[in-house]
Amino acid sequence: MTKTFTKALATLLSLALLAGAGLVPSLAVTDADWDAIWEEIDAKQSAVALTPGSDETQRNFAWQSAQGATNPVVRLNRSADLSVAATFAGTSELNKGTGLLTHYVTVEHLMPDTLYYYQCSDSLGKSDVYNFKTAPADKPTKIVMFSDIHVKSDEAQGVDEKSSGRIWNDALEQALAREPDADLVLAAGDNANEGKPREYLGLFAPPALKGIPLAACMGNHDKKAFNLKYYMNNPNAHKALLGSLQGGDYWFRYNDVLFLVFDSTNGSGIDHYRFAREACLANGDAKWRVAMYHHDLHATISPIKGPEEWAMKQIFDPILADFGMDAVFVGHNHRYIRTHVLARGRVVQNVGDARQVTDPKGMVYFGNTSVVHVSGSDYPSVNPENAFCFMEPSVMTYNVISFEGGSLHVKACRVDNGDVIDEFVIVKSGGNTPKSALLPRPSYFGVMFLSGIYALIARVNDTRLMNAAQ
Ligand SMILES: [Fe+2]
Repeated sequence: MTKTFTKALATLLSLALLAGAGLVPSLAVTDADWDAIWEEIDAKQSAVALTPGSDETQRNFAWQSAQGATNPVVRLNRSADLSVAATFAGTSELNKGTGLLTHYVTVEHLMPDTLYYYQCSDSLGKSDVYNFKTAPADKPTKIVMFSDIHVKSDEAQGVDEKSSGRIWNDALEQALAREPDADLVLAAGDNANEGKPREYLGLFAPPALKGIPLAACMGNHDKKAFNLKYYMNNPNAHKALLGSLQGGDYWFRYNDVLFLVFDSTNGSGIDHYRFAREACLANGDAKWRVAMYHHDLHATISPIKGPEEWAMKQIFDPILADFGMDAVFVGHNHRYIRTHVLARGRVVQNVGDARQVTDPKGMVYFGNTSVVHVSGSDYPSVNPENAFCFMEPSVMTYNVISFEGGSLHVKACRVDNGDVIDEFVIVKSGGNTPKSALLPRPSYFGVMFLSGIYALIARVNDTRLMNAAQ
């Protein structure tokens, strides 16, 4: 046996052992697969986006086609033979910026523990046949969460939507290989680097996302253009008075968890308050309430800390407290950080080194790293409101969020090797559901008035920019 051969054999054996131990999940998507996916995306200028429905019995779909396309439907069946499928019709809306139609369809009455095949079609074409499986009725809800995915094109850096989308695909695959029973994927904003259509096509390009819904919120980078709402179909979208032109707040329910997804790029306090009240009143029996928005307002001293961040705290802190959030998931600063228990923006329980709290009188915030823009060593100052900071540069992380009975368990893991870098559990001992405020505190009326003026000016400005771009 030659020395080279022995070395090669040892390497192969090591890789096999690592793969067997689950440390290096093998990637399902090959280079040839990725090429074929993008050939189709570029030919159609479309990607099927699977997003959560209003609850676990529904799924939402969006896809794009040329103007003139009619009759958007999703065909659904328990077998791959869709000739005898149930058909769900939808609506269409023109994206004036691209000249493409987006179709939005919701499928309903899904049964638990069932494999469904589906196909999206309109009068001009149809997608491949994909499938998803619903969870057993008694399964605890599990979520894999990323933030700041930043699919992008940058000639100077030698990346485009296809190559940066591949980074996203591979990170997602690694996480889902370790958590094969995940029900949902969350993305806390900055999904696209410039808000461009091809970036959103890259966001939904991973084949894994044809089988698991992705719920994303608006980030400041998404807001650089006017496309986000044309690339995803969000349930229970709030009809805001002064909402963003690209999308906004929405909620969904998954078993006993209510998810409130806020558009933190929009300053309209009255709209965010109305949205939270409507969502919580419609889901008064949900045991857990979690919020997701983009801006990390507490966990790090942001590089943009200043009047804007101060104003956002005045808008969001009272809402999150008045409607009893258990946890808040954020992004923006591209690093994993967990706070102590906060209420109205102040520490109400310093958890020290503890990894568990029971019946906290506030909420815990969790930040996360970026996917494509993994930070270097330029960390912001550590905020005293942090309970944990992951300080290793250039490491991509994701969160695994599990709801089981009386506990909410958040685990943060490295993408590269699956190591758990942090774990925290919030326990509700009484099994009680959160309470909701009926009206804002008197002090919040001033916030609503001033933030409304700010949001009105922003909307007028955005309308001008959008019209100039179209
Ligand atoms: Fe970002």
